[in-house]
Amino acid sequence: MSTNSPAGAKVTRTTPPAIRDRKGGDPLVCLTAYTHQVAKLLDDDMDLLLVGDSLAMVLYGLDTTLGVTMEMMIAHGNAVMRGSTTACVVVDMPFGTYQESKEVAFRNAARIMCETRCQAVKLEGGVEMAETIAFLVDRGIPVLAHVGLTPQAVNKFGGFRAQGRTEESARQIMEDSLAVAEAGAFAVVIEGTLEPLAREITDRIAIPTIGIGASPHCDGQILVTEDVIGLFTEFKPRFVKRYGNMGDLITDAGAAYAAEVKARSFPGPEHCFGFEAAAAENAEEKAEPQPA
Ligand code: KIV
Repeated sequence: MSTNSPAGAKVTRTTPPAIRDRKGGDPLVCLTAYTHQVAKLLDDDMDLLLVGDSLAMVLYGLDTTLGVTMEMMIAHGNAVMRGSTTACVVVDMPFGTYQESKEVAFRNAARIMCETRCQAVKLEGGVEMAETIAFLVDRGIPVLAHVGLTPQAVNKFGGFRAQGRTEESARQIMEDSLAVAEAGAFAVVIEGTLEPLAREITDRIAIPTIGIGASPHCDGQILVTEDVIGLFTEFKPRFVKRYGNMGDLITDAGAAYAAEVKARSFPGPEHCFGFEAAAAENAEEKAEPQPA
């Protein structure tokens, strides 16, 4: 049980082993969360909340995830932990904090776990990260793996393109998935990967697959919340489905507020302290006979 939780709240979170045990069962429902408020609003319906490094683009206006720091992930991880009581909270490891060696990865993953009290970390990569995943898992750090289109490798891919189109790329993604499962990851995110391949991986590996632009056959699905609610509108990947239009709500609310401030119709008496007393005094002063 975490100590970094809403004050006084009963905390019974879904655990990484419970997520792993959902292989082949009811679909895992996952979304990203970066803030306390969003975590609070989504917690009841989610098996897993991911504090994704996609916050680089969504919250900070960066063009890739490469500018994300440990401090950013820890601050947002803390906010999400304090906003949730039941979802399993996983925090992304930033680019450059785990690739160098398994020891460096352990140090940074342990720091994220200790300073946020999240339940697991996510890192990108397959065969090349398998030894690191096993090292972390053996030392008490549950790992959510991430294969296929791995956004931290955007410069290697030359853009954000669906993966698995060539025989070689498909074979690599299959090997990556088998390797992270074998290394002890409790689940794996498969991103931007051709549907038949994601389906085949799901059938072959022993841990749950969580798809994003992958396949309805995956053991679960994840999306970026701001895409789902229509708050991030810079671009819309094919795999995103919008379930709401928060962007328009914010623009409309801002415009209505601006109009009322300009017209002096906001704030009204109900938004002011002592407004009625002041108005009455004013009226009395006006009623007093004026000297000739
Ligand atoms: O950073 C992120 O939000 C992610 C998800 C899109 C899987 O990695």
